[in-house]
Amino acid sequence: MGEIIKVNNLKKSYGKLSAVRGISFHVNSGEVFSLLGPNGAGKTTTVEILEGVRKRTSGVVSVLGQDPERITESFRKRVGILPQDFNFLERCTANEALEFYIGSLDSSLKPDELLKTVELSDKKNVYFSRLSGGQKQKLGIALALSNDPELIFLDEPTAGLDPLSRRSIQEVMRNLRSLGKTIFLTTHYLEEAEKLADRVAIINFGMIVDEGTPEELVQKNKTSDMLVVTVQDGVSLSGVLPSLAREKSKGVYEMPIKSNDDLFLVLDSISKSRIPVNNISLVRENLEDVFMRIVGAEENES
Ligand SMILES: Nc1ncnc2c1ncn2[C@@H]1O[C@H](COP(=O)(O)OP(=O)(O)O)[C@@H](O)[C@H]1O
Ligand SMILES: [Mg+2]
Repeated sequence: MGEIIKVNNLKKSYGKLSAVRGISFHVNSGEVFSLLGPNGAGKTTTVEILEGVRKRTSGVVSVLGQDPERITESFRKRVGILPQDFNFLERCTANEALEFYIGSLDSSLKPDELLKTVELSDKKNVYFSRLSGGQKQKLGIALALSNDPELIFLDEPTAGLDPLSRRSIQEVMRNLRSLGKTIFLTTHYLEEAEKLADRVAIINFGMIVDEGTPEELVQKNKTSDMLVVTVQDGVSLSGVLPSLAREKSKGVYEMPIKSNDDLFLVLDSISKSRIPVNNISLVRENLEDVFMRIVGAEENES
């Protein structure tokens, strides 16, 4: 699998503001790569530099073997873009929008195929203004696909959508990946990156603070797993559980578990005590927990 995007020490300033401060990463062909970070972290700046829409201050950038500041016609044909806050003409139907794009790109695709790919066939003749937020984004993705690109940039495709619409767009992204497309996804939704991305780079204040597969990031940064044991009101587990256990709320005990041996010892001790237990669960940190620790809850926008 080749590297389809290479970025080395990329910087971008707007006047005095350093929005991107020397980031380096690469994207492999065929993967979903997610640039994950809070508002104002520098995601759109980075993605627009890769798309050839914005100029960088310094650094080396290669997309499909080309410098996006000197793009050619062939680059445009191989790249699809869904900009942040995508919008379109209100009194234009989904079909008309696609016909317009397809015509201007000299593409051989048909609106019906594209609508099917994004699961929007039933809205073919509906005005843009009449589409829901999620349907508008789907049309935006269909337009980004109208030149049958191998690389697609999606800048916050699910921002502000309800959970059902978000899920439906995530399904579309999964389909695109299975068609062999490379997807560069920016998002601030942790669970979206965790579900969809092959690799993630976390950006904060214009710097990449960590990078890897979601699983690697969790493994590297997580604290211990927690065993949570719930018993009936009035029943006590003190003496049964190890000294590290604490009663978090009434009847709910929590203790860190570092290894399988740890876990088996605790379970064995509970079992021998014959104390009736309502529930036992092992809680693992996810990407969101880890992210909160790395990035903190504060936003980058001042
Ligand atoms: N055209 C611009 N002119 C001045 N400042 C900008 C411009 N675009 C973005 N910024 C600033 O750069 C920083 C990064 O913005 P952006 O790349 O849009 O972040 P994100 O997409 O992660 O929310 C923010 O502080 C933002 O206000
Ligand atoms: Mg943005």
